[in-house]
Amino acid sequence: MGRLIIVSNRVPSPHERVQPVGGLTVGLADVVRGVESLWFGWSGQHAEGAAAQDVTCETVAGVTYATIDLTSAQHERYYEHFSNDLIWPLFHYRPGIITYHRQDLAAYYGVNDLFADRLAPLLRPDDTIWVHDYHLIPLGQALRARGVTGKIGFFLHIPCPPWSVMRVLPCAEELLRAMAAYDLIGVQTDEDARNLGECYEVMGLDPTVRAFPIGIDPRGFEQEAKDNVGDPEVRRLRESLRGRKLIIGVDRLDYSKGLLERLHGYEAFLKRFPEHLRGVIFVQIAPPSREGVANYQALRRELDELVGFVNGKHADFDWTPIRYLTQPVPRHLLASFHRLADVALVTPLRDGMNLVAKEFVAAQDDADPGVLILSHFAGAAPDMPEALLVNPYDTDEIADALHQALTMPLDARQKRWRALRAEVGLNTAAEWAKRFLSTLEASAPSS
Ligand code: G6P
Repeated sequence: MGRLIIVSNRVPSPHERVQPVGGLTVGLADVVRGVESLWFGWSGQHAEGAAAQDVTCETVAGVTYATIDLTSAQHERYYEHFSNDLIWPLFHYRPGIITYHRQDLAAYYGVNDLFADRLAPLLRPDDTIWVHDYHLIPLGQALRARGVTGKIGFFLHIPCPPWSVMRVLPCAEELLRAMAAYDLIGVQTDEDARNLGECYEVMGLDPTVRAFPIGIDPRGFEQEAKDNVGDPEVRRLRESLRGRKLIIGVDRLDYSKGLLERLHGYEAFLKRFPEHLRGVIFVQIAPPSREGVANYQALRRELDELVGFVNGKHADFDWTPIRYLTQPVPRHLLASFHRLADVALVTPLRDGMNLVAKEFVAAQDDADPGVLILSHFAGAAPDMPEALLVNPYDTDEIADALHQALTMPLDARQKRWRALRAEVGLNTAAEWAKRFLSTLEASAPSS
């Protein structure tokens, strides 16, 4: 078997301790570990001129990280506009907030062609290529056009909407036709697979589409959670709680995560269940991303305002109901923060999978497990029925679930947690990759 080639827009730095919170790099970091592989993508840096487009390679622990910079024009049109102000909202069922410009489409193809130009010379004939996410839908086709003959698979980490929403995209058919050039298309859930299948049926195409729900490395995360409980920073958090219950939320600062709705739910909880006033602390960690995109800037302003409003209204001299952090927190600390928490609020309006839900479960322990409150609209929900499932738009349902979670007897918490832990343990990132790659190997060539 040849090498595994991973291609994604964002490539984690092999050295950074604080990685961006995001399902893709978290899931894949576990996959490349121990396999001879090359991970190709954007460096996360801007640079102008021809030098920006040279490949920089660095090999760490058997994984070669090959990256290129983007010019600020490419970054703006391909990443901010087309990927994150058009495909992202549309695929998260939000056609009302998209913006579309033909120049952005051209830039999107341009960067995909650039990726193909720079990657093709690095490839060997027996490599297996696995392309990730919505930034790179046409990459497979572009590689084929450059004579690449090996297997090429694609995995979409975000949700896939039905045709009635998809067709809002002016270039929907063109993009889906490009996606059909892959030997295998993986999506997160059965619902996504049905939706994409429906789109292809309308178009009269029949590529291979399968659901492969992504997981985490639960043992690794559990170990980090255990190993770092004594860390001074974790102790600081524990001591600051002074016996109060901890509710935790960890999300990228993104409108798809339902953060405003969650805060309204928490406020409804404080109003309707005053017995919990002063007895709980909600820590919401929300590092910003895509800060150049107007919808993200607006969300940040609204969150600042709403957190201030709720805290001002409900706080006491010696108690603040919400601690809101926008700086990123290192993963090892996050793991232990999850372990300390009594409740996790994971309430996206739509989410491809949501690995935070799985990480919270992995970080808990049987002696006194916390309760997961999870949105029906997270891709993780169908496999996690023992969570308290809520509709994130219904603030009273969030309030009820918080009260239920905080008053749930130990044996009921254990029963739910054991079932969730078993599921998270079965469906790991390694299993996910194995299933995808063996299906890809067995697939018939696409053309
Ligand atoms: C989601 C996407 C990833 C993306 C991540 C972080 O998980 O599926 O492709 O990398 O968010 O977003 P960013 O725009 O910062 O890369």
